[in-house]
Amino acid sequence: MSIRAIIAGTGSALPARRVTNDELAQTVDTSDEWIVERTGIRARHIAAEGETTATLGAEAARKALAAAGIDAAAIDLIVLATATPDQTFPATATKVQDALGIRDCVAFDVAAVCSGFLYALSVADSMIRGGVARTALVIGAETFSRILDWEDRATCVLFGDGAGAVVLTTGDGADGRGILSTALHADGRHNQLLYVDGGPSTTGTVGKLRMKGSEVFRHAVTNLAAVLGEALEKAGLTVADVDWVVPHQANRRILDATARKLGLPAERVVVTVDEHANTSAASVPLAFDVAVRDGRIQRGDLIVFEAMGGGFTWGAAVARF
Ligand code: UT7
Repeated sequence: MSIRAIIAGTGSALPARRVTNDELAQTVDTSDEWIVERTGIRARHIAAEGETTATLGAEAARKALAAAGIDAAAIDLIVLATATPDQTFPATATKVQDALGIRDCVAFDVAAVCSGFLYALSVADSMIRGGVARTALVIGAETFSRILDWEDRATCVLFGDGAGAVVLTTGDGADGRGILSTALHADGRHNQLLYVDGGPSTTGTVGKLRMKGSEVFRHAVTNLAAVLGEALEKAGLTVADVDWVVPHQANRRILDATARKLGLPAERVVVTVDEHANTSAASVPLAFDVAVRDGRIQRGDLIVFEAMGGGFTWGAAVARF
């Protein structure tokens, strides 16, 4: 037996405002038909003034703590994945810490865009297994609506805002539960295929999202299938052992193509892209929480998380819930 990070509870948060494709088509040169056919997206949630990455992250964290039955005071680590922090600094994790009334803990952000939650989960898992932390909040939170170019129909219809969180506790693995493996990758040669055209050290502006969608698509299917297989192999498992895949929700066609490539039945893939669109680092923990709360994912199920995003970065994790 060895020290393991156990997923004790999940939570998520969405802005109140839900925007359908038809509503978007009133201001953007697009149609519900095009968006549904090419992406599977039907609606997304868009943050209102005052709703930020930190407020959404804190709400998701509160729900995850309640689900775990753990008091915020027990948290000794917050790792928050985001590409849309409230400010360049301080880390949004420290704003969530303050909102939760936690007096002292380790708190920092991780930037790996859509793979951010996988990176954050892997860091927290390592810190727990290394004995540096015992009870962690791992959060993915984004307000991508604030970095979208609403004149660019090829990108602005694809993204939404939201947050998801998990509470990790320390266990001995005796019951088989916990994070069993993680696998992470990055290939910076492709950073011009998906990026923001601004930043504090370059233009001094926040910038807008730019993407060569079809090229990202091509890489996504190959990388996701490979890293999912790698994480399963590290855990000594195969696709046949998987109860649920909780993938990054970028495009329904990517989810279907990846499942086909791996020989995974579509019924074992959690899909929320229709209602949330692509929420970047929030998408995996948000989809996970939805599937836990609607009863699809049960305690003891074997879950594979996977994501790919700007950088490129990509990763997967295997956990028994
Ligand atoms: O989260 C990080 C990972 N991101 C992704 O995984 C995104 C990956 N990429 C994709 O999901 C897809 O490539 C998109 C959904 C972005 C685009 O789908 P596509 O099948 O690759 O379409 P396309 O970019 O090749 O565009 C096809 C056509 C173009 O028109 P022409 O040149 O064929 O006349 C576009 O101008 O569709 C047009 N188009 C639109 N039409 C209506 C592009 N965006 C829109 C739109 N509404 N919103």
